[in-house]
Amino acid sequence: MIIRTETINDHEKVQDLLTQAFPGQEEALLVQRLREDKTFQRELSIVTEEDGIIKGHIMFSQASLIDGIHSHYVAALGPLAVLPDYQRQGIGGILIEEGKRRCLSHGYPLVFLFGHPAYYPRYGFVQARTYGIDLTQFTVSDEVFMVAELQLGALNHLHGEFRFHSAFEDLG
Ligand SMILES: CC(C)(COP(=O)(O)OP(=O)(O)OC[C@H]1O[C@@H](n2cnc3c(N)ncnc32)[C@H](O)[C@@H]1OP(=O)(O)O)[C@@H](O)C(=O)NCCC(=O)NCCS
Repeated sequence: MIIRTETINDHEKVQDLLTQAFPGQEEALLVQRLREDKTFQRELSIVTEEDGIIKGHIMFSQASLIDGIHSHYVAALGPLAVLPDYQRQGIGGILIEEGKRRCLSHGYPLVFLFGHPAYYPRYGFVQARTYGIDLTQFTVSDEVFMVAELQLGALNHLHGEFRFHSAFEDLG
């Protein structure tokens, strides 16, 4: 299986993957919006490919942690999707680990997400609010709002209000 940066030639297949993996169109729209944004970093949209089939896709975007007058750039994971026929084969985990490595090399200290509380803790994610991180942009329960350290110890000194890129708002 090949793990690589998404290219323009993959866009159609990735959009198809997203509509198969998720019940609505929100995630497909979100990926389109993020790709078109000036903050988009190509290496942070990653696919797994086997036998010419794009089996999984993950995207990370630039988000902010606002602490008083200071604002820190952090990464946000999402969406992550694996084609239904290839789920539970470890592809999601491979994409998360590769993405975390790439986010670290881009200088991000932390990566945030909204996700399944039973899935992400195995990849180092913990509840963000327990580390003094606020959220006002969306209303979600404590257990789905998660963060993982990329730089060791980052959660000890970075706090404030987390904000996703505005592309996450008003998805319908
Ligand atoms: C969630 C998803 C990305 C996981 O990818 P995957 O390649 O199937 O995951 P992996 O093979 O790496 O891991 C499989 C493990 O995750 C668990 N898992 C998968 N989806 C889960 C979910 N929604 N909630 C809790 N656990 C889940 C499986 O039970 C399995 O655990 P086990 O090995 O102990 O049985 C994939 O199922 C998917 O695309 N789902 C639809 C879209 C989605 O919900 N995306 C995530 C949004 S937060």
